[in-house]
Amino acid sequence: MDRTCFLLRPFRDDDVEAFARIGSLQFPETPRTADEIRHYRELLGLPPQIRYEVAVEERSSGRMVAEGELGSSPHSFDPKRLWAYVTVDPEFERLGIGRALGDHLVHEARRREVRFLMAGARLNHPRALRFLQRSGFVEKRRTWRSVLEVASAPLESIPNRTDDLAREDIELTTLAEEGADRPEVRDGVYRLSVEASRDVPRVGVYTPVSRASFVAAHLEGPGVLPDAFFLAKCGHEYLGLSNLEKLAALPATLIQAFTGTHPAWRRRGIALELKRRGVAYARRQGFKSIQTFNDSLNEPMWSINRRLGYQRQNEWLEGELSLVP
Ligand SMILES: CC(C)(COP(=O)(O)OP(=O)(O)OC[C@H]1O[C@@H](n2cnc3c(N)ncnc32)[C@H](O)[C@@H]1OP(=O)(O)O)[C@@H](O)C(=O)NCCC(=O)NCCS
Repeated sequence: MDRTCFLLRPFRDDDVEAFARIGSLQFPETPRTADEIRHYRELLGLPPQIRYEVAVEERSSGRMVAEGELGSSPHSFDPKRLWAYVTVDPEFERLGIGRALGDHLVHEARRREVRFLMAGARLNHPRALRFLQRSGFVEKRRTWRSVLEVASAPLESIPNRTDDLAREDIELTTLAEEGADRPEVRDGVYRLSVEASRDVPRVGVYTPVSRASFVAAHLEGPGVLPDAFFLAKCGHEYLGLSNLEKLAALPATLIQAFTGTHPAWRRRGIALELKRRGVAYARRQGFKSIQTFNDSLNEPMWSINRRLGYQRQNEWLEGELSLVP
């Protein structure tokens, strides 16, 4: 990167519009509006989470052309294990900006005495992959975007388990029916999400998010759809959840967010039934597709998605760089 032409500086609040534009050019499958980014940046920056963000600006125009960040993972908070992300405006690729940001982030991580740095690269982006490999990142898992074309989902071949579950005193409901604003509902759904998230296979430790962050992200966030937030319960205890959300820039698509079943209630078909209801909802409401992310460590979830007809697309490699001296 030619430093006489480009300036690496702290990220500013007024960079969010440019960042949303660059992100949507690089990742057109999951474009995010500036408002959505603001919402999640605010959440991800809440203490104790770590957020360090920089931008690259073209000196002649003042235009923000790239963003880099180091951050902790809310569900796996460890100040010694951070994630690095780099996003460059496609018009400004091949000028060494991505490498300069990558090197800067590794340097910053070392300064903070981080032990492990995590980063991902798309398999169809050979330059990013080469950068990870040359920098010493070791593959830890593959992730991919899974897409379900709602019209071709094999819904009819998946039995409706409502009656079977009712015989076990398991009732199926939604956040809208339960009352999204009721504190006891929020407490119960939060408790379930903490218990179910414990078993999401991950690289690193599990740390539950706070109730406030959970509520802000999943019960009050800009994408929340209370009638597409499917729940299973027994008495007053929630046992399973699967929530669909929307993205402002993709009105015909739903995002399959979290699915989890309480450990004591697994292998009864709860998750599959909740997700089946999600697909039926998408079909009724006229959505064309549902997107989610899967990974090579979580075969149970991917096997459920395969049964529902999700197709694997846009694969990523996620690697770990040891900075242990
Ligand atoms: C993945 C998870 C949601 C499955 O919940 P569940 O209610 O037990 O799933 P179901 O009973 O509906 O399973 C349906 C089918 O999925 C497959 N499956 C589910 N769990 C499996 C496991 N541990 N190993 C292999 N296959 C599994 C099976 O084919 C199963 O059908 P079968 O029991 O007739 O063989 C649950 O294990 C969980 O909460 N895990 C932690 C949270 C998580 O990882 N969520 C995904 C990230 S979003």
